[in-house]
Amino acid sequence: MKLKKKDLLGIEGLEKEEIELILSTAASFKEVSTREIKKVPTLRGKTVINLFYEPSTRTRTSFEIAAKRMSADAINISVASSSVKKGETLRDTALNLEAMNPDCVVIRHSSSGAPHMIARHLKSSVINAGDGAHEHPSQALLDMFTVKERLGGLSGVRLLIVGDIAHSRVARSNILGFTKMGASVTVCGPPTMMPEGISAMGCSVSHDMEALLKDADVIMMLRVQLERQKEALFPSVREYSRLYGLDAGKLRKARKDALILHPGPINRGVEISPEVADGPWSLILEQVTNGVAVRMALFYLLIGGVKE
Ligand code: CP
Repeated sequence: MKLKKKDLLGIEGLEKEEIELILSTAASFKEVSTREIKKVPTLRGKTVINLFYEPSTRTRTSFEIAAKRMSADAINISVASSSVKKGETLRDTALNLEAMNPDCVVIRHSSSGAPHMIARHLKSSVINAGDGAHEHPSQALLDMFTVKERLGGLSGVRLLIVGDIAHSRVARSNILGFTKMGASVTVCGPPTMMPEGISAMGCSVSHDMEALLKDADVIMMLRVQLERQKEALFPSVREYSRLYGLDAGKLRKARKDALILHPGPINRGVEISPEVADGPWSLILEQVTNGVAVRMALFYLLIGGVKE
């Protein structure tokens, strides 16, 4: 089975059935990573290029491992030592990579829409690994996978997303994904970090984190993205942490079985305290584990052939 599209550019362009297909395919691939020989021949002879214009630990490594576990050849382009430094445009870089016949280009870029632009020029599949503050679809898919695995489904799940919503591509993709799957989503953060009109995406908006905790099945904390802020959006880190950080005190106001998610990287002591990040309800590292299975599923559904 394949996705009926060449590229994965956002959750926005996915139907509910396509998300279900990706999640169920990921479930079937998760076991591969627990084997002694962590490899299946499914994508032998295929080539995946990772083109990351922004720093990444989890996403880049996860796509590389996923490709290698499927027996594809994975090539990482380090933008810092590429011809981008000599002034080559994104389009020219993409066309030159295409000339080497890859099957898939995974791209992260600081500009919203960059993956969409190169997808129009390339015959190979393009996966958006995060574009500006726009979308991070593979992160939302692994978040949905993690919650579905724990709770058995996504319909009726109450998700609370807390933090820098304005700069968060993770928030945007998760709002789109979870609402498509029948979950209810509330976003919470300081007014300065809340984009105008965000409720049009189908979520509720609040600025009072403590009042929301008791009703959440899943609490997703977001990193404060200082690198994307052009001006100070809160008085101090201490103040932010007091109002919008999740620590043991606030967690006592949440459901005892509430699941804690964070896409990473985490700022310990800012949006999440160490005892919560490392505590029993934190799924932060499980999200990372599941990311490999979800990305294996994406490669399989976009560029794979018949399943062995
Ligand atoms: N979650 C995420 O995108 O992490 P990286 O920036 O390390 O890839």
